[in-house]
Amino acid sequence: MQSANDNLKTDIAFVQGHSGWAGILGWPVHHSKSPLIHGYWLREYGLSGTYVPLPCPEGQVSDLLDQLEYVQESAGNGCRGLNVTVPHKETVFDYLSQRILAGKTGCLSTHAHMMGAVNTVYRQADGSWFGDNSDGYGFIQNLRQMAPDFQFKDQKALILGAGGAARAIIVALLTEEVATVTILNRTIEKAEKIKTDLMAHTPALADKIICGSMLDLEDHLSQTDLCVNTTSLGMTGQAELNIDLSPLPKSALVTDIVYNPLKTDLLRQAEALDLAHVDGIGMLLHQARLGFHHWFGTDPHVTPALRQFILKHMCLSEES
Ligand code: ATR
Repeated sequence: MQSANDNLKTDIAFVQGHSGWAGILGWPVHHSKSPLIHGYWLREYGLSGTYVPLPCPEGQVSDLLDQLEYVQESAGNGCRGLNVTVPHKETVFDYLSQRILAGKTGCLSTHAHMMGAVNTVYRQADGSWFGDNSDGYGFIQNLRQMAPDFQFKDQKALILGAGGAARAIIVALLTEEVATVTILNRTIEKAEKIKTDLMAHTPALADKIICGSMLDLEDHLSQTDLCVNTTSLGMTGQAELNIDLSPLPKSALVTDIVYNPLKTDLLRQAEALDLAHVDGIGMLLHQARLGFHHWFGTDPHVTPALRQFILKHMCLSEES
């Protein structure tokens, strides 16, 4: 079996000659859209860097990051940073936490701390790693772009699901000063764990986070301003998220982080009820901006042309 270090050598060889490079660490990683997104922006802005997939099996992340650091220090390999995807976001968070605890240089953002996960790594001015998480940023920026009239402050958010994506979105919504976040999940303990973890960081959040099971949905919908599906239900190959949105106020905004299909049954239902709704592909596109900005010095735009480029690669259309 190819080791992570073999992969790294291959990728470092591949990027030699470029002025700077970044990559995405994951396992598997071949399905990731990040190389397409960053490649598009590099071409769009006429930049000479590159962005590569870095496949890395579980258990080999620390070795790979150590080696990346060693090569950088000894020879300089032009690595500007990384994106991190499933299943390594928590591992990279732990790796950077341990380095910081051991007195080595490095830093983690507040959002990464609150989420317990890192999806973007870049270098600080002194060359040390900075671990951040842009998933929540991507969620907020997508809604700002696609539903510009929606104001987050003092709104009541309803989050379906309590996985990693939910955690990132909840932190971002609380940062935007929503009034409350209600987390409903099949496994209520996971919703409660998010609340406990966030309260450990900021005790005042106790009054703002409400946990429940999916069975409580009807009680909450009529009080909801923003309804977010973060479960995998509704995704191609998965069961549908069978819920009735009709108790939602007419002013509510509905969004789904599932983007395959682009128009999930949840969004179709929102459309039929004449509710504002936003699909999930923009979260993927916007979360990529932070890394690109730090690595390549340009804050890239999420344009209709980028959206169509990615949808085409995924064989998706606006109606599918
Ligand atoms: P991600 O990191 O993308 O958020 P995840 O951590 O696997 O993915 O979380 C998936 C979410 O979908 C969870 O909230 C999960 O509910 P449980 O915590 O109870 O597992 C939810 N989910 C997945 N399949 C589900 C199903 N059949 N019914 C209800 N919820 C489901």
